[in-house]
Amino acid sequence: MTDYSEIFAQRAHQYHDAMQRDPRARDGEFLALLEDLPSSAIDLLDVPSGGGYLGVYLEAHRRLESCDFSIGFAGSRIPLGSPDALPFADAAFDAVLSLTGLHHVSFERQDAFFAECRRLLRPGGQLLIGEVLAGSDVAAFLNDFVHRHNSQGHVGVFFDDAFLPRLQAAGFEAARMTVRHYPWRFADEAAMVFYCRNMFGIDRASDAEILAGLRDYLGYRGTDDGRIELPWQLVFYQAVKR
Ligand SMILES: C[S@@+](CC[C@H](N)C(=O)[O-])C[C@H]1O[C@@H](n2cnc3c(N)ncnc32)[C@H](O)[C@@H]1O
Repeated sequence: MTDYSEIFAQRAHQYHDAMQRDPRARDGEFLALLEDLPSSAIDLLDVPSGGGYLGVYLEAHRRLESCDFSIGFAGSRIPLGSPDALPFADAAFDAVLSLTGLHHVSFERQDAFFAECRRLLRPGGQLLIGEVLAGSDVAAFLNDFVHRHNSQGHVGVFFDDAFLPRLQAAGFEAARMTVRHYPWRFADEAAMVFYCRNMFGIDRASDAEILAGLRDYLGYRGTDDGRIELPWQLVFYQAVKR
């Protein structure tokens, strides 16, 4: 089985480079995750957070902690944790948010992660997850195009409505899912190719091949103001600690 712990340790800096070069490309995605966050939720945990990118989208009354599963992202502001051991006190948070990190975590460890989230949440606290929808264009792009053009491969286990009963079994109630579509936005094609190459570790394709892959799998388009939009979508889950 592919060791994503090792893979993320090696290529976290590339992922971070993409996010630093174009910090607003995924605005629509972070805002889509936050759509389900009640304004009464003050103490928030983002895990796995990567480089802690969620913070810029939060209103001033929120307090955010970040945590990642990889030594590639962990540091002084972002403690290292694992799905079954998150370094925070019981009932410390009103909400736990998790964006596109669980598709590389085994089912067994996902269950352990839910148990940790329950421990960390206050009664009535919310678990919000944004993940790749099984069968979507994004799923095909990742497990087909990226898999063929990243020398370490990409084998993600993606999400659908079978995830809802798993959340319920893990002690969450009122679980619901919403599929949201939004674009990733770039200044031009070169910026989009740089971002996707680095975010997904695509080391076995030329820029022209990446551009063709993005066109064929996702169908990017130019906008009236000369920018580029790459259609993206995720499935967002919301559940409440029982
Ligand atoms: C696609 S990134 C998402 C990061 C951030 N939430 C964002 O949206 O930019 C996936 C994250 O999951 C973490 N991750 C997932 N599975 C992992 C594993 N098996 N071992 C180590 N890290 C893992 C990585 O460290 C990385 O931060």
